[in-house]
Amino acid sequence: MNEPPWKALVEAANRARDHAHAPYSNYRVGAALVTGDGRIFAGCNVENASYGVTLCAERNAVAQMVAAGARDIAALVVVTQGPEPGNPCGVCRQTLVEFAADLTIGLAIAGDDVPRAFKTLREIFPEPFRSDLVRGS
Ligand code: THU
Repeated sequence: MNEPPWKALVEAANRARDHAHAPYSNYRVGAALVTGDGRIFAGCNVENASYGVTLCAERNAVAQMVAAGARDIAALVVVTQGPEPGNPCGVCRQTLVEFAADLTIGLAIAGDDVPRAFKTLREIFPEPFRSDLVRGS
């Protein structure tokens, strides 16, 4: 994919964030990814009274993608509240690397039109657990 549709991704992430279920932290997150063939999937964080059950926005978006039959992430946007954007957590980084060895991640704050920062997954997660170690030989 050439330049990812950053504006559409931020818009989709903002829309998903509007539906976040975050009554415990009150920290609402939206994420949107685009697949290699141009489909956009979004997710929000879904908290639970049993805190550890919480699902992050990024993993929600990945689950939507997989349920639709897609498996390759070309780019991702995460939208959080300010004052500064939040990085994907460690569990989400490992989930993302399953579907993209490397990808550019745009970080935005609620209300932004385009990401205000860009990072690569390789840069923020340089040594993931490798799938080739567990695949049947
Ligand atoms: N959260 C995400 O949705 N994504 C992340 O990568 C980090 C944290 C959510 C989980 C929880 O609902 C809230 O943010 C505060 O941790």
